[in-house]
Amino acid sequence: MTPRLLKRLGSLWPGRKSTLPLALATGMLTCTVYAGAPDQVTNIFKPLSTPAESVYQAALLTLAVCAVIFLIVGGLLTYTTIRFRRRAADDGLEPPQIYGSNQIELAWTVLPVLIVFVLILVTARTIADVQNQPAPPDSLKVTVVGHQWWWEIRYPELGIVTANEVHVPASDAAKRKLTFLRLESADVAHSFWVPQLAGKTDLIPNRVNMMWIEPKQAGTYLGNCAEYCGTQHARMLLRVIAHEPDDFARWAAAQQQNGVEDAQVKAGRQVFFSTSCVNCHAVSGTAAKGRFGPDLTHLMSRDTLGSGVVPNTPEKLRAWVRDPQTIKEGALMPNMQLSDKELDQLVAYLLTLK
Ligand code: CUA
Repeated sequence: MTPRLLKRLGSLWPGRKSTLPLALATGMLTCTVYAGAPDQVTNIFKPLSTPAESVYQAALLTLAVCAVIFLIVGGLLTYTTIRFRRRAADDGLEPPQIYGSNQIELAWTVLPVLIVFVLILVTARTIADVQNQPAPPDSLKVTVVGHQWWWEIRYPELGIVTANEVHVPASDAAKRKLTFLRLESADVAHSFWVPQLAGKTDLIPNRVNMMWIEPKQAGTYLGNCAEYCGTQHARMLLRVIAHEPDDFARWAAAQQQNGVEDAQVKAGRQVFFSTSCVNCHAVSGTAAKGRFGPDLTHLMSRDTLGSGVVPNTPEKLRAWVRDPQTIKEGALMPNMQLSDKELDQLVAYLLTLK
């Protein structure tokens, strides 16, 4: 829309010259939808999992109803504004004042009630469809524990513990494979949200919530915490990685292995076990059994550090261990005040934890 046209529209609205163009511009911005590639942004418009598809259908219906109402109201308003604008030949008197019409009053009471009722029914049905899905015996069970500010991921039946990246098998129409998530919190309320897979579900202290996902394509799905949980809430990112069944089996088998014991990084392992790292972190098959921080057994198999804050590269890992606060201020991991040599040794050890 050109500035001239905006100005012209604005001039149709006596005394409100600046607000009409502003309102129109705001409306246009609000309607701009970012439709990016599925793997690079969180996207509610490209559902790829049964619960997300149900939510998407209900949302489309709601959007369509709202769009029709918007067009009718906006159309009438525009028509009236133009048709009955003040003209030079006006006598300056008020037009006839008409009060009350039973038909009109009834119409604009009953119609919205009906519309809202239909939306309630559709919403209730969608919620029921998603929530009443029984867990098939072959479904994968994953426990997700929210922490300030990272995700603890446990596979009780597979004996796997990891963090921030939920690996699941992809589902296909011939052989559906559902993943049921048991959601808990270690501290405050968080919310698990991967828009392409399902709606949001809160992780609440002293309570267990359930949700399920069914990714229909292999690939990485991005998500994030959707409940304000402290200063780093916005950087409590999440990824769900769906694999073809064989790949998932391979991933699981690798994750079930104990931490690698590489003689070449003995010095680094000593640093790890002689500092308080072990109070918070676990490496399976060793004495490190801490649970306050992410399990490090297969640290280098993960794409990111600090729950999605930086890519998991040797440089970033070194910077993170040197002082996590420079990367994620407020994270509960302190600066361990290691010397450069200790830092090099420790990072060399961590790099072997594949
Ligand atoms: Cu966790 Cu917001």
